[in-house]
Parts: sequence; structure tokens; C-alpha cells
Amino acid sequence: MTQSLTIPRPDDWHLHLRDGAMLQAVLPETARDFGRAIIMPNLVPPVVTGADAAAYRDRIMAALPEGMTFDPLMTLYLTEATDPADVRAAAESGLVKALKLYPAGATTNSASGVRDFDKVRPVLEIMAEIGLPLCVHGEVTDSDIDIFDREAVFIDRVLDPIRRATPGLRVVMEHITTSNGVDYVKANDRDLGATITTHHLIINRNHILVGGIKPHYYCLPVAKREEHRLALRAAATSGDARFFLGTDSAPHLDHLKEHACGCAGCFTATNTMPLLAHVFEEDGALDKLEGFASRNGPAFYGLPVNAETLTLVKSDTATAFPAKIDTPDGPVTVFDPGYPVHWSVQ
Ligand code: NCD
Ligand code: ZN
Ligand code: ZN
Repeated sequence: MTQSLTIPRPDDWHLHLRDGAMLQAVLPETARDFGRAIIMPNLVPPVVTGADAAAYRDRIMAALPEGMTFDPLMTLYLTEATDPADVRAAAESGLVKALKLYPAGATTNSASGVRDFDKVRPVLEIMAEIGLPLCVHGEVTDSDIDIFDREAVFIDRVLDPIRRATPGLRVVMEHITTSNGVDYVKANDRDLGATITTHHLIINRNHILVGGIKPHYYCLPVAKREEHRLALRAAATSGDARFFLGTDSAPHLDHLKEHACGCAGCFTATNTMPLLAHVFEEDGALDKLEGFASRNGPAFYGLPVNAETLTLVKSDTATAFPAKIDTPDGPVTVFDPGYPVHWSVQ
């Protein structure tokens, strides 16, 4: 028996495309299913100015295969040296859709991130004035804070004070991994949303560590206890418009993940939509997938829902996803949920 589900073409509100050969290899994996994506600026060196973002956007469009359509929504990496006038101009031209806050040292390529939040206050004030969202990697980096507690502590010590000090600032808590994140979003009616990744709906910390270490399940923020995964599932499938899809698909070459000091990031661009159909069906919420993947994100960012559609089909045989994507520098492993998935994109 074949079951099918047609939704407006989805968008990805948190995506790493990288640059050069990696960009070339991974871009089709996203553009095949998604209309738009918020493009993370953590290149080396990072995308910090409007001019950097314009040049990066051109490189993405040049890498797009003939016949595919895709609209990259650009972001700037917030540093202590970010110029408020440049931010205003880049936003008002329509090029830049958000700024990204990385606490210095929190994750992959975050060395240029913010240490002293007072230094970015003028930028945050302009953003509140013009309604430009701040996308936040919400983890403190203090060495005395346990890695599993870093999101919850960030909310109390950093995020809530920033939001109180900057009324009207619109914030997206990126890739939330805890019930604390879910609860904080639910307790705040205005100007706050959160992205949830595909993999954090599927794995908890046992999947990373039990029966041998699984480097391809390691990402930041690291997956937490099962009770947190269940809170994320409940939020994503609830229909609450403050929660939307940001895959955080983050490709790293296999030899750098399968390493004594392995990189953080799960690569989910290839199979996200079938995996989400599986997850939402399992929770009896297939009717909520459209909101999560196609409607809630554009609503938060003040953009129209895509006019095109995407059809997912479920068949009796399990879908054979590619295990790896090839790049000239080596393969990138595609996220494997560890169970058969019967959905595929038509
Ligand atoms: C991301 C990356 O590789 O750029 N890694 C990750 O584990 N999520 C960075 C990030 O989003 O924090
Ligand atoms: Zn992040
Ligand atoms: Zn990310």
C-alpha cells in the first residue's frame, strides 16, 4: 500500500553549506527538497560583512546545478567588531535575513564569536529597531559548566539578560536540545522562536556512547537524555508555530569525524524529509509536518510560504538512502537513524 503526503515545499532555517568543493557536493542535497535555507556564516574566515555575504551568495548560486532552484537566505556572523551601519544596509537591501551569535569557542569555527556582550549592544539595538532576527547558538563555554548543562545555563546567564536588555529583539534559539529550551520558548509569547534539528528528534546521548562511540552522531549542542528528546518531539509535533525545522546539516569529511578529536556535526540534508515523515507519523502527527517544515519558519521570518509543493510517499519497502556523499577530498557520511524508513521524496 502506498501512502502519500503533499506539503508546500519546505525550507531549512539552519544550514551549513561550507564553501568550495564541499559546497559543490552538498548543495544539491538540500536544493533537491528545500526552497530556501538560512545559510550559516561560520566559514573560515567567517562571513561578517554585507560584502562577504553578497560574495558568498554568488558562490552558492554558481554552485547550484542547472535546472535546480534554491534561494539562499544569508546571515552575518556577529563579532565584537560588527559595524551597525553595515548590518542595517545589508538587511535593508534584502540580502541578509539574520545575524548569528556564536559565543566564542562554542562550536565549529566560532573563534571570532562574542566574548563581551556589551560590545555588541549597538548592533542588537539596530536589529531590534529594524526587526532583524538574531540566531543564537545557545551554549555557554565556561570550562566549569558540564557540556550537558551548557544550553540550560546559557538561557539563564546570557539569553534572558540579552532579551530583557533589548526589548523588541527577535531571537531564534537554534538547534534546541533540552526541555529547558522548549519551556523557555513556550514561556515567551513574543519575538522568540526555536529551530529543532532532525537528528535531535531521533537520537539521545545513549545513541552516541552505548556500544562503542559513534562519531557520526556527535554534534553540538550534543544530544541529551531521552526525556529531552521527548520534549523536542512533543514541541515539533505540537503545531506550535514558534518551533520550526532547522536541520543544522553540517558536513565534515569522514576522516575528520572518525578521528581522535572528531568534528561536531551531523549531515542530514539528504534524508531529512523522509526521516521527519517517519518521526511525525510515529507520533500520530503527520498533519503537523507541514507547519513545522513549510509554514512556521516563513511566518517567523515574515516571508511567504513557498508556492511549489513536495510529495512524500510511503511504501512497503524501506528506502535506500545513500550512505555517503562523495567530495574530491573524501566522503561525508549521511545521517543514519539506525532503523528502516519507508518514506521517500517522490
Ligand atoms: C556545526 C558546524 O559543523 O558548523 N556543528 C554542529 O555540531 N552543529 C556548528 C553549529 O551549528 O554549532
Ligand atoms: Zn550551532
Ligand atoms: Zn549549525
